[in-house]
Amino acid sequence: MTSTHALYDAYEQRYWRELVRRTRSRGIEFVLGRREGPYVWERDSGFRLLDCGLTGGVHGLGHRHPDILAALTGALEAGLDSGLWNFPTHEMLAFQDLMAALAPVPALNRTVVTLGATASIDLAVQFCARVTGRHKVLAYRHGYHGHAGFAAMVTGSESEGIAGHYGLPNSTARFFPNYGVLDDVAAAMGPDIAAIIIEPFNYETFAPPPADYLPGVEALCRRHGALLIIDETRTGLSRSGRLWMSEHDAFTPDILISGKGLGGGLYPVSALLTTEAIYDDCINGHAYGFASSMAGNEIACTVGRRVLEVASRPETLAHVARLEARFREAFAALCERHPGVYAPAHIRGGVVTLGLRDPADADAIGPALFRHGVYCHSVSLVDPLVVKFFPVLTAPLDIVDEVAEALDRFARRGH
Ligand SMILES: Cc1ncc(COP(=O)(O)O)c(C=O)c1O
Repeated sequence: MTSTHALYDAYEQRYWRELVRRTRSRGIEFVLGRREGPYVWERDSGFRLLDCGLTGGVHGLGHRHPDILAALTGALEAGLDSGLWNFPTHEMLAFQDLMAALAPVPALNRTVVTLGATASIDLAVQFCARVTGRHKVLAYRHGYHGHAGFAAMVTGSESEGIAGHYGLPNSTARFFPNYGVLDDVAAAMGPDIAAIIIEPFNYETFAPPPADYLPGVEALCRRHGALLIIDETRTGLSRSGRLWMSEHDAFTPDILISGKGLGGGLYPVSALLTTEAIYDDCINGHAYGFASSMAGNEIACTVGRRVLEVASRPETLAHVARLEARFREAFAALCERHPGVYAPAHIRGGVVTLGLRDPADADAIGPALFRHGVYCHSVSLVDPLVVKFFPVLTAPLDIVDEVAEALDRFARRGH
């Protein structure tokens, strides 16, 4: 078998060179071996890592969650495959029904299933263009919505945005500079805007918006005849302590995107939720309103439905509340013990952040935590400086002690 080191060498030649170099420059070489619940193990060394990055929530319910694994293997053993896209399936209807029953607002009672959030966002932008007859989308300057097509065009993040790199048409997006500031959105709004696309928290800092922000954004959309797309690719599926983060605030989006964890880390599934009126106009207003060979196949719908069932269980949500409380307690203690290193920051459900006092720690903390066995999500690139964690929502509570111990060790070196 190719060694870990040789795999990295090969990846540097023929995969994503910059990623490999960046990872190696931090002293990290890690090839996934065993994985279970909140942990992954390095294939060759057996080094165990507590995964608090989860590829932004892909493994939100844990690696190889037994119920979701059972749904997937059960579907395969029952004789299902990716099907024939032009014949109806029971699984699609059952998935749609559950999605509609669990949507944050009753108006979002139609679902289109795709193979990934990027594809769902592409479709959402197309929907908004058709419904409004306009072509510009307003998005957060430091946001991220995907790496291809319209999703890439509405991604403004300076580090991850690639619209300029590929010379994509720049007529699609207009960006507002600050998240959570309604005046910024209002200033960028105009009669040419088809939609606003936004996550229900700040892409970089994970900070929730002020309570009146998202309702205010909706009101702006209504006033200007634009639509509102909420991107819950990372924030949905109980990450925030509610099934959808949108449920924390009183507003009604026109389109909601779910993805990443919707496939349980086992199968590609994403969903676009919208209203009956938008759905009918876009999908049924043309003989081929949307088609994709593999999207919404029986296996995808079986897995997605089981994920929804597990994520929405009262026990799951109660557990997320317990995790939140433990993180709050542990991080408050860390801030008290190391006031020169850490500062209090937002924690909401399984969205967990800790402030860093010293900008020099931004580069150092990720690799250090990794060495101590904890893989964090990332560090914010805009103020405030925070280190971010996406813990597995079903993980035992004592993973909090592991995270706190790793942070404590980091703070004790040289400070
Ligand atoms: C908020 C958000 N939207 C959309 C996407 C695109 O998802 P995918 O890469 O699964 O297509 C991502 C991926 O990181 C994301 O974080």
